Amino acid sequence: MKTARRQRSSRPAPPGLRGRSRFGTAKARELAELRARLAQAEETLRAIRSGEVDAVVVAGKHGPQVFTLQGAEHVYRLLIESMNEGALTLTAQKMILYANKCFARMVKCPLEQVIGSSFRRFLSAEDRATFRPLLKRAGKSGSKTQVLLNVADGSQMPVQVSIRPLPKNDFNRATIAVVVTDMTEARRNEEMLRGLSYRLVQAQEAERSRVALELHDHITQLLCAILVRSQALADQLPARDAVSKGEAMKLREMLGQTAEEVERISRDLRPSVLDELGLVAVVRDTSTGFAERTGISLKLACVQLTARLPADTELALYRILQEALRNVEEHAHARHVAVCLRQQDAFIQLVVKDDGIGFDPAHRPARRKGKTGLGLLSMRERVNYVGGALNVKSVRRAGTEIEARIPLPLKAPK
Ligand SMILES: Nc1ncnc2c1ncn2[C@@H]1O[C@H](COP(=O)(O)OP(=O)(O)O)[C@@H](O)[C@H]1O
Ligand SMILES: [Mg+2]
Repeated sequence: MKTARRQRSSRPAPPGLRGRSRFGTAKARELAELRARLAQAEETLRAIRSGEVDAVVVAGKHGPQVFTLQGAEHVYRLLIESMNEGALTLTAQKMILYANKCFARMVKCPLEQVIGSSFRRFLSAEDRATFRPLLKRAGKSGSKTQVLLNVADGSQMPVQVSIRPLPKNDFNRATIAVVVTDMTEARRNEEMLRGLSYRLVQAQEAERSRVALELHDHITQLLCAILVRSQALADQLPARDAVSKGEAMKLREMLGQTAEEVERISRDLRPSVLDELGLVAVVRDTSTGFAERTGISLKLACVQLTARLPADTELALYRILQEALRNVEEHAHARHVAVCLRQQDAFIQLVVKDDGIGFDPAHRPARRKGKTGLGLLSMRERVNYVGGALNVKSVRRAGTEIEARIPLPLKAPK
C-alpha cells in the first residue's frame, strides 16, 4: 500500500548541469529536487484520486494537514470496497477524506469528485441543519439517523446514516466514520405494509358494520317478536297454572336480556350514535355503559366540540377508547378510571387512565395459549393512520395511562 508522504529526492543532478560553479550546482540541485517533488506530488495526487493511498494531505486554514486511515490494511480496504453500503471518513469540518465506490454510485458522482468535497453537499437542505447537532450528539458512542441524500441526477435517496467518531490519528486529527445504507427498498416495504394494514382495518370496519346491521335488523327484530309472543303466552296461561306461568315469565325476561345483549354487541361493532351524533355522544355512551356493566367508577371529562371531526379521526378515537376500556376490564383490576377528551390547539386528545396493577409497556407479553394481544398494537396503528401519536405510560401497581393525540385539519381561512 502506498503512502502519500513527502520524501527527499536522491536523484543525481542532470548531466548538463555538471561541472558548473558551486552556486550553479546548488541551484541545479534545488531545481532537480523541486522536479522530483513535483513528480512525487503528481503521483500522490493520482494515488489519492484512485483511492490507493491510506493518507491524504488536506489544505486547511493553518496550512496542509495530514490525515491517515489508521489500520487501513489492504484486506480492510477490500472489505470496505466490496460493501453494499456507502462508507466514508470525514474531517471534523465534514470534508470527505475517503469514500468507497458504493457511496460514489449512490450519489451518482465520480469518486474523485466525492473525495475532498463537503459531506453537506450530499445532504438535503433540511438535513444539513440537523446534521451538525447530530454529529455533536454522536460523541463517543455514535448515533444513527435517517436523511435524504442528494443524488447528482437531481433525485433524492432515503438513507440511514450511522456516525461514529474515530480515534485521533498519528497527526492528532479527529476523523469521523460514516456508513450510509440505502433505505429505498425498506421505505417501499414499510409503505406497502402500512397501506396493507390500512386496507385490513378498512375491511374489518366494513365487516363489523355489516354484522352490526345484520344483528340489529334481523336478530334483534326476531328476538323482539319472540318476546312479544312469550309475553302473550304468559298472559294467556291461567293463574292456577302458576308453575307454567312462572316459567313463561322467566323465558320472557331472559329473551329481553338476550335482546339487550345482542343490541350491545351490535352497538360495539358499529355504534349508530357515532355516525348520527358524533364522537362526544359515543364517548359518553361508552363510558356510561362501561361503568354500569363493570361497576368500576368512571370519571368523564369531555370537551364540547363545536363541529364534527373527520370520520377517520372519530372512528380511531372511539376504537382506542373501546380497546383501552376493554384492557381495564380484562387486566387492570382497577377501582377508578378517568376518561378525558379535550381539544388542545390543533390537536384532539383522548386520555384513559386507571389506578390498576399496571404493566411494563417495554416488555412484550409472551403468547398466551396461542393468543397474541393486538389491542395496543391496533390502537397504535389506528392513531398512525390519522397522523397522530399514542403514548402508553404504565407503572406496576400504580396504574396505566393511554394517551392518543391526533392533529386536527387546519380551518380554511374565511
Ligand atoms: N390497563 C391495563 N392494566 C394492566 N395491564 C394492561 C393494561 N392494558 C394492557 N395491559 C397489559 O398489556 C397486555 C397487552 O394488551 P393488548 O395489546 O390489549 O392485548 P390483550 O388485551 O389481548 O392481552 C395485556 O395482556 C396486559 O398484560
Ligand atoms: Mg386488549
